[in-house]
Amino acid sequence: MIFFLFIMMFGLSSLQIQSQTIPRNISIFILAGQSNMAGRGGVYNDTAKNITVWDGVIPRECRSNPSILRLTAKLEWEEANEPLHADIDVNKTNGVGPGMPFANRVVNRFGYVGLVPCSIGGTKLSQWQKGEFLYEETVRRAKAAMLASGGGSYEAVLWYQGESDTVDMVDASVYKNRLVQFFSDLRNDLQHPNLPIIQVALATGAGPYLDAVRKAQLETGLENVHCVDAKGLPLEPDGLHLTTSSQVRLGEMMVDAFLAIPNSAELHSGFSVLVLFCLFFL
Ligand SMILES: *[C@@H]1O[C@H](CO)[C@@H](O)[C@H](O)[C@H]1NC(C)=O
Ligand SMILES: *[C@@H]1O[C@H](CO)[C@@H](O)[C@H](O)[C@H]1NC(C)=O
Ligand SMILES: *[C@@H]1O[C@H](CO)[C@@H](O)[C@H](O)[C@H]1NC(C)=O
Ligand SMILES: *[C@@H]1O[C@H](CO)[C@@H](O)[C@H](O)[C@H]1NC(C)=O
Repeated sequence: MIFFLFIMMFGLSSLQIQSQTIPRNISIFILAGQSNMAGRGGVYNDTAKNITVWDGVIPRECRSNPSILRLTAKLEWEEANEPLHADIDVNKTNGVGPGMPFANRVVNRFGYVGLVPCSIGGTKLSQWQKGEFLYEETVRRAKAAMLASGGGSYEAVLWYQGESDTVDMVDASVYKNRLVQFFSDLRNDLQHPNLPIIQVALATGAGPYLDAVRKAQLETGLENVHCVDAKGLPLEPDGLHLTTSSQVRLGEMMVDAFLAIPNSAELHSGFSVLVLFCLFFL
């Protein structure tokens, strides 16, 4: 009997903790693409051990914050920390990507920022088409993020992909069609026809058709799809991946593109509104 009561009390109190920690209103950002979105900043070859490792360096712009959450592989919210894709892109060594610097620069505008990491290194755009595993997984995680948050809102998709589509001429030549299809399907399935998409024009590619893919990215022709250009940002010695400081810069560029969208910059938290109010009267 006492044992039973104990179990009941334990159950009740853990329920209570849970309901306290589920954020009521969370602004959701979906992070998708391949390795540079997952993050390889600070990943290097340990030649003595013949393995790749992350250096563990977390710049100020990428620090954790109790108001920045990430959806785990188990579809639960937790305080976000680098590397954001550690339990998602599980077969690779993950480092710093653009997600945390992005979140840190917008968090003051929202009550909670909820990041939904979905990126997998080395993937082609054909693998992100509706019906394919990566696509369906992204939709599943995005919907789970909404359900897990007791009333959230999709704010934007951050997309950085295409290095693997620079190898084959056919992949490069249909890149634009596939991209338009992917963005349109995703918006449909999330029932958010004008969902802002901030995408990155490639800095690097694994093959010779880099310019063709970049051209497709820079001119999707879709409304509310905004492209920032990563070309010229410093790279890791592998010549493919952005360094940690490049990822910080990229995150900031993506924030600038996001905030330039009308209404995205609406201040959502009471505190920010108060600050604005005070500034107005100064
Ligand atoms: C929840 O947040 C969204 C976006 O941040 C905002 O538009 C909405 O008004 C908020 N709702 C409540 C009930 O606070
Ligand atoms: C690590 O070494 C492999 C094999 O030489 C190479 O392909 C890869 O680009 C290197 N990675 C980094 C981060 O330098
Ligand atoms: C290093 O590891 C790779 C696989 O990860 C293997 O193919 C290669 O032979 C290894 N090199 C050495 C020198 O052990
Ligand atoms: C990781 O590798 C395993 C074994 O090859 C594979 O079944 C799985 O799909 C891979 N997962 C990801 C996320 O790449």
